[in-house]
Formats: sequence, structure tokens, C-alpha cells
Amino acid sequence: MTIGIDKIGFATSNYVLKLKDLAEERGIDPDKLSKGLLLKELSIAPLTEDMVTLGAAAADSILTAEDRKKIDMVIVATESGIDQSKASAVFIHGLLDIQPFARSFEIKEACYGATAALDYAKLHIEKYPDSKVLVLASDIAKYGAHTPGEPTQGAGAIAMLLSRNPRILAFNDDNVAQTRDVMDFWRPNYSATPYVNGIYSTQQYLDSLKTTWAEYQKRQGLSLKDFAAFCFHLPYPKLALKGLNKIMDKSLPQAQQDQLKDNFEASILYSQKVGNIYTGSLFLGLLSLLENSDQLKAGDKIALFSYGSGAVAEIFSADLVPGYEEQLSQTRLEELNLRQPLSVADYEQLFFAEAQLDEAGNASFSGYENQTFALTEIAEHQRKYSKVEKSS
Ligand code: HMG
Repeated sequence: MTIGIDKIGFATSNYVLKLKDLAEERGIDPDKLSKGLLLKELSIAPLTEDMVTLGAAAADSILTAEDRKKIDMVIVATESGIDQSKASAVFIHGLLDIQPFARSFEIKEACYGATAALDYAKLHIEKYPDSKVLVLASDIAKYGAHTPGEPTQGAGAIAMLLSRNPRILAFNDDNVAQTRDVMDFWRPNYSATPYVNGIYSTQQYLDSLKTTWAEYQKRQGLSLKDFAAFCFHLPYPKLALKGLNKIMDKSLPQAQQDQLKDNFEASILYSQKVGNIYTGSLFLGLLSLLENSDQLKAGDKIALFSYGSGAVAEIFSADLVPGYEEQLSQTRLEELNLRQPLSVADYEQLFFAEAQLDEAGNASFSGYENQTFALTEIAEHQRKYSKVEKSS
């Protein structure tokens, strides 16, 4: 039985910060961001858009009524969750009107979480072949204004519907993971933004890639020549490019090296315009590859490198299924261009705004008309979400 990704959806916020504007305001050379990090724009989320609304919107864009009857597990990977106790998956299960006899929970290990979720979903479908599992990777990446990480923020969610006989990608049973206890990036409960040892984190990322890839090749008897594309976790695309250069096999025919490089370029297009979306970053890269590469064909094997600070890394692969193109969008880049640009002052106000609760724990919000789902109010400390009705 083949198991894998049957559908992929994506959602991001309606606002965008152009990094040339940020560079100008911060007094840094715009080339540092466009060439040094390979980034162009960041999605900026207001208070009414959080990882619940983004996750629900990503899923809503792909689910049919039939899917909602068949899904029996909802797993949300996130590191910007909205409650220490109640899982965001429970809110999202309700917003999506998924049948009640489902297991819904949240999973965490920095940007790595969704990779573990996919493997757990696969085990579940092996046991219950008729089931469909919804895996969401949803985050808002916030480092703070004037920090080195500021140009690598972002907001967005990826939704993946897993089933047997998938129509996009079939997983291979070849995952190799590595755990190392390091403090490269972490966010204590009392802090709204992470603590980061930036350069150290890039070294951990690259070394985890090198050592996990060596172990993967040894265990699986595969090498770069077996792959049409390699997708990376994308905290910012330049780091992934360094990763590709690190594992590039110079003895491969030039045409295959070129194909890997071209496919890499296709895989970073969305992240360059959205920024880091933590748990969803790797899969946004995968979606970008699938929707923008003109070199892929059914049967091609794609490698995926997942990295979550702290740190856990994993490499696994999946094969493209015949007809995969039919499940994808042709208009994603145009849609990203419809986001409303913000001045740096407006970005600072919007992105770092915090809910002002009264003594009873109430706050109400407005200005969410263009969202798919919204946090509309907090009533006695309870977050209230709704699908936004669109006036025709
Ligand atoms: P920085 O201050 O931009 O670092 O911070 P930099 O001064 O080293 O500059 C970056 C690059 O720009 C360098 O290129 C410069 O040479 C180049 P490199 O040497 O690396 O090839 N540069 C220029 N290029 C062209 N024209 C110029 C110019 N000036 C400089 N004029 C840093 C970079 C990554 C530290 C910062 O952005 C940061 O702290 N980011 C957040 C942490 C991060 O993203 N880490 C990545 C690995 S950890 C990870 O992936 C996990 C994560 O997603 C979280 C999770 O798992 O939950 C973050």
C-alpha cells in the first residue's frame, strides 16, 4: 500500500513587508538581505490572524465535504501555539467542521514537528487504510524589531492531507533522524520572541545536514544521483543554498547537477516572498518546487531535509505520483502579489501589537474582513474564532 500526500494547501496573511523598505529604514545595504539572505518580502500577520486561523485557512483551501467526513486525525505542528494546554488542533477541528470521532492534538519540536507528524500519520493509515489524516504546520515567526533575525520573520501555514493511494507524493520508508541537545534557538515560556545564537544555529543546521545525509546514504544505499530534487528547511533561502552546495556531488553529470540547482531555485520562490514559517518552511519549499519546476516528472524521487532547532534533523524521501500536477495551483505567485504592502512603521505596529484585555479578560477585534478565519474576540480569557462571511 502506498501512503503519502494527497493534497497540499497553503495560507499566509494579507500583509507584506518589502525587505528593501526594511533595509532602508534600518540603514543596511539592501543587497545584504536580497543577496546575503536571498529574501525579498515577509508576510506580516495582525492580531486577528494567528497560527489557528492560518492553519484553518490552509486546510479549508483543500478539503471537500467528503474529506471532512473521512478525516479521523488532525495533527498540528507549531512553535507559536496560542495555549499551553488546549491544542490548536481542537480549535481547527471545530472551525473545519470535521466529523467528531477524530483524534486532534498538537506536536512540538521547533521547525521539525511536522516531519514527525507525517510519519505518525503514515503509521496510522497503515493501521486504518480508509482513514485520512490532516497534518498542519502553522506558525508566525517573530524575532522582534531591530534584531538580526528581523529580516527572517514570516507567517503562514501548510496543510497536507494524507491518505493511501495519494495523488501527489508517495512516501518511501527511509526516514533517518538525528537528535542533538544544543541551544541554538529557543523560546522560554515567559518570552514572546526567541533567544538565538544566530551563527551557531547556521553551523548546527549545516552540520546536522552533513551528518544526517551521510547516515541516510549509508543506511539506504542511495546517493544524490538517485534524486531529482532536494528540499530543505528554509529559515532563509541562502542557508539552504549553502546546504545544497555542501552535499553537491561534483562527480555527477553536469546536466544532473544543473537540474538539482534549477529545482532548488524553484523551491525557494515562495519562501523568498513569505519568509520563515518555521514548521511549514520545508513544505512551503516542497510546494514551491512542485508548482514552479518545469523539470519534474512522475516517478521522480525528492529528498527532504527537516531541521528544528534544539535540535532534531531528519532526511526522508517521496516519489512523485502520475498526475500530481492536477492537484496543484498555477496562481500562487500572483496571489502573493495581492498582499497589501506595509510601511515599516505600520509593520512594527501591526506585527507586535498585543491584545489589551480588560479586568475580566475581554477584548474585541476588528479589521479582519479579508481573512478566511479570524480571531474575533477574547471573552473571559477564551479565544473566539469564526469563519469570516464574505459579502458578495
Ligand atoms: P546577519 O546579521 O544577517 O549575518 O544574521 P551576516 O552579517 O553573517 O550576513 C548574512 C549574509 O549576508 C552573509 O553571507 C554576509 O556575507 C552577507 P554568508 O557569509 O553567510 O554567505 N552580506 C552581504 N551580501 C551582499 N551584500 C552585502 C552584504 N552584507 C552582508 N552588502 C543570521 C544572519 C542567520 C544570524 C540572522 O538572520 C538570524 O539570527 N536569523 C535567525 C536564526 C536563523 O534563521 N538560523 C538559521 C538556522 S536555525 C534554523 O533553521 C531553525 C529556525 O528555523 C527555528 C526553528 O527551528 O524553530 C530558525
